[in-house]
Amino acid sequence: MPVDILVGAQWGDEGKGRITDLLASSADFVARFSGGDNAGHTISIGKDIFKLHLIPSGIVHRGVTCIIGNGVVVNPKVLIEELEGLSRRGLEVSQTRLKLSDRAHVITTGHVALDQAIEIAKGQNAIGTTKRGIGPAYTDKAARIGIRAGLMSNPTEFADAVASHLEEKNQLLNRLFDQDYIDIKEERPKYLEYARIIAPFVTNTSAIIHDALSLDKNIIAEGAQGTLLDLDHGTYPFVTSSWPTSAGALGGLGIGPSSVRRVIGVAKAFTSRVGEGPFPCEILGEDGTRLRGTGENPWDEFGTTTGRPRRVGWLDLAILRHSALVNGLTELAITKLDILSAFAEIPICVGYRLDGKMLRHFPSDLRTLERCQPDYVQLPGWSKDITGARRWSDLPTNAQRYIEFISDTMNLPIRWISVGPDREQVVYS
Ligand code: GDP
Ligand code: IMO
Ligand code: MG
Repeated sequence: MPVDILVGAQWGDEGKGRITDLLASSADFVARFSGGDNAGHTISIGKDIFKLHLIPSGIVHRGVTCIIGNGVVVNPKVLIEELEGLSRRGLEVSQTRLKLSDRAHVITTGHVALDQAIEIAKGQNAIGTTKRGIGPAYTDKAARIGIRAGLMSNPTEFADAVASHLEEKNQLLNRLFDQDYIDIKEERPKYLEYARIIAPFVTNTSAIIHDALSLDKNIIAEGAQGTLLDLDHGTYPFVTSSWPTSAGALGGLGIGPSSVRRVIGVAKAFTSRVGEGPFPCEILGEDGTRLRGTGENPWDEFGTTTGRPRRVGWLDLAILRHSALVNGLTELAITKLDILSAFAEIPICVGYRLDGKMLRHFPSDLRTLERCQPDYVQLPGWSKDITGARRWSDLPTNAQRYIEFISDTMNLPIRWISVGPDREQVVYS
C-alpha cells in the first residue's frame, strides 16, 4: 500500500515540483492534497518549462493519473486556464488523466476580492498573501458555508449557489472594507460555463485512491507550500490557511496513516521565504543578492505565482529538525546545491540561542522566534560548477561534506541532490 508523501520542509518553493517529477516516472497516481493556486511548481525538461498551480506535477508523465484531492481549494477559472494552457502545449489533460474531488471547495471571485481587501485593511500587519482567495475559501469551508466541486454536476444549482454566496460577500466587501460590489449578473453565467467544463472531471477521488491502494498502485501525495506555512505548525499568523504537512495529506486525500510508506521532505540547500514574518537566518546584503539572483535565470528566487522577489537566508537546521518531527520525515531531497557554488565559505545554522541558551525546540511564539540568535557552523565551499554532476563521485569533496553534514545532523538519508533545474541534473545517493 505504497503512498509516498512529499512535503516542503521550509517556507515553500523548495523544488517540490522538480522532485515530484522525478518520483512520478515510477508512479501510477500523483495527488495534490492541500492549498490552491497559491502554489507554483516548476518542472524543467530541456527547453520546456512547466509552471503548475493546481494540476499535480505528474501531468507531464503520460501514464500518470492526477488527482486534485478534497483538501485543495479550486478556483474554476484558474483550473480551466491551466488545462487549456497545458493542452495547447500538447499534453493530454482529459478526464481520464485528471480527477477533481467532489469534496474540494471552490474559490470564487468573492474570495479573491476579500483576500485583497483584508490584506489592504491590515496595512502594516499584512501577511503578504498571494491574493488568490485561499484564506477566505478555507474560512468558508470551516464555517460550513463553502461551495463544493460536487455541486458542478448541476450547473444551474452551482451558479445559483455562487450567486447567493456573492451577495453575502458583496455585503462584507462594501460594508466592512469599503470596496466595490461584484457584478453578480455578469459573474453568474461565467460560473454556469465553468461548471459545464469542469463537471466531467469531478468525482469521488478518495474512492479512486482506495481502489488504487487495494491494487498496490504507487501513489505520490504532492505537497504544496511548506511546513513553516502550516496553519498549526508554521510561523502563525504568517502562514497559509491549510495543512501542507504530512498530516494534511491524510485528511486532504482521505487516507489513513497505515497506507504511507515514505515521507520525503524537500529542502533547498539554503532557505527562502515569500511574504512577511520572522526569518532568523535571513541575509540582507550582497550575499543575499547572490543567493537570490537577479531574475535573469528562470530558477532565480522570484515567486513562480506572484513574481515577488523571495527573501533568502542560509540553511537553517532548526527549521529542518522541526519539519522532520512534525512531518515524520523518513528522508530528504536537497535542491539548488549548485547555487552555493558561488560561496567560498557557507554558514549553516545548527540551532537557535535564546538568552545565551540553545533552544531544543522550534518556538511557537513569533516574539520568541524574533529574539532567537542563529548558531552558525562555517563549512568550506567548493567554488566549482557542479551542474554537470550525476554521481556522488562527481561532486567535489566539500560539496559531499556539506550534504553529509546535513544528513548526519538530521539523522536522515538524503536520497536526491539536485544540482540544476533540469530533470537530468540530479545525483541519487
Ligand atoms: P516548488 O514550489 O517547491 O515546486 O518550487 P518552485 O518551482 O516554486 O521553485 C523552485 C525553483 O528552483 C524553480 O524555478 C525550479 O526550476 C528551480 N530548481 C529546482 N531545483 C533546482 C536546482 O537544483 N538548481 C537550480 N538552479 N534550480 C532549481
Ligand atoms: P509553493 O507550493 C511560497 C505564502 C505567501 C504568504 C503566505 C500566505 O509554490 O511552495 P496565501 O496566499 O497562501 O494565503 O499566503 O503563504 N505562500 C507561499 N510561499 N510558496 C508557496 O507555494 C506559497 N503559497 C503561499 O507568500 O506569505
Ligand atoms: Mg513554488
